[in-house]
Amino acid sequence: MTDNVVVRLVKRPSGMVTPDCFSIQAEPVGEPGEGEITVKVAFVSLDPAMRGWMTDRKSYIPPIGLGEVMRAGIVGEVVKSNAAQFAVGDFVSGWGGAAQYFTGAAMMFTRVDPSLAPLERLIGGLGMPGLTAYFGLLEVGAMQPGETVVVSGASGAVGAMVGQIAKIKGGTVIGIAGGPEKCAYCVDTLGYDACIDYKSENVSARLAALIPNGLDVYFDNVGGEILEACMNHLRMKARVVICGAISVYNATDLPPGPRNYLNLLVQSARMEGFVVTTYAARAGEAVQTMAGWMNEGKLQFKEDVQTGIERFPEVFNMLFTGENFGKLLLKVD
Ligand SMILES: NC(=O)c1ccc[n+]([C@@H]2O[C@H](COP(=O)([O-])OP(=O)(O)OC[C@H]3O[C@@H](n4cnc5c(N)ncnc54)[C@H](OP(=O)(O)O)[C@@H]3O)[C@@H](O)[C@H]2O)c1
Repeated sequence: MTDNVVVRLVKRPSGMVTPDCFSIQAEPVGEPGEGEITVKVAFVSLDPAMRGWMTDRKSYIPPIGLGEVMRAGIVGEVVKSNAAQFAVGDFVSGWGGAAQYFTGAAMMFTRVDPSLAPLERLIGGLGMPGLTAYFGLLEVGAMQPGETVVVSGASGAVGAMVGQIAKIKGGTVIGIAGGPEKCAYCVDTLGYDACIDYKSENVSARLAALIPNGLDVYFDNVGGEILEACMNHLRMKARVVICGAISVYNATDLPPGPRNYLNLLVQSARMEGFVVTTYAARAGEAVQTMAGWMNEGKLQFKEDVQTGIERFPEVFNMLFTGENFGKLLLKVD
């Protein structure tokens, strides 16, 4: 087998990624070494965090080396196995790379069950973004029934799950999203109590009107000005969950932190970041619970499926312009 189109990082981006940051070329399908598998990739997950992995700086995982396959979450079928835990024909998801066939360590993958849900959902709402929402809201945010939750990136892969889980847990949910279509989706389809369009409304003023008593949990997916606006509305003992800061991932000069951080002191509140992989050992529990809610009709999912591995740079940038509507995936032919 030689027809394997592979995306490799060949230049570190400054600001938004450009096509010349990647080589996208055909090469032979790899042979799995001891403990490795080859996966025929069905979907490549496009995640904002991938922008951070392209930059040469210390983080929770090492940066992608120049010339290496562009690291990405993938889901697909095992076509070659040199690892005891997987057989040819198994479906797996895990950390692989943007390619038609990915060969790598089996320990980076878990088996998924396509009879539970379509593959795109198993790597989306029931996959890493869903786990991020579940553990970020319930463990880091320690959300309790009856509390008020504000979530930014509210219609996105993580945000949509945060808001829906908060509703299932008996909360009042205010979303923050870009544009009337995404805001209407949050209220009409996802069941939020309200959604603020940050592109046309003053977030802090709207929060004051919607939740005059303030918020208990702010689940932050975007950072920057929206983080600061939400921190004007902390109740006593509020929790600010730092999940991500997509508004600054392409910044060449980082903006200063929230000027009002002393509200944490005034309200005896806390701000805590997390990485979803911390909860890997409990992934099964979360997937089972969310699949149960799905089967009861309590969860809605939206995937934004784009086609063609060769479109990787252009499709990846959709995350940062708000062009994606739902979990962004690249379908691999
Ligand atoms: N901590 C963890 O372990 C972990 C795991 C997964 C994801 N994350 C983080 O979670 C966040 C959401 O990720 P996702 O996969 O769910 O992506 P997503 O929300 O599905 O897609 C990105 C969305 O971000 C919004 N956005 C882009 N630029 C923005 C800006 N300048 N200001 C405000 N909003 C902006 C856009 O929505 P609008 O059209 O509404 O602006 C865009 O559609 C990211 O920060 C990501 O890094 C963290």
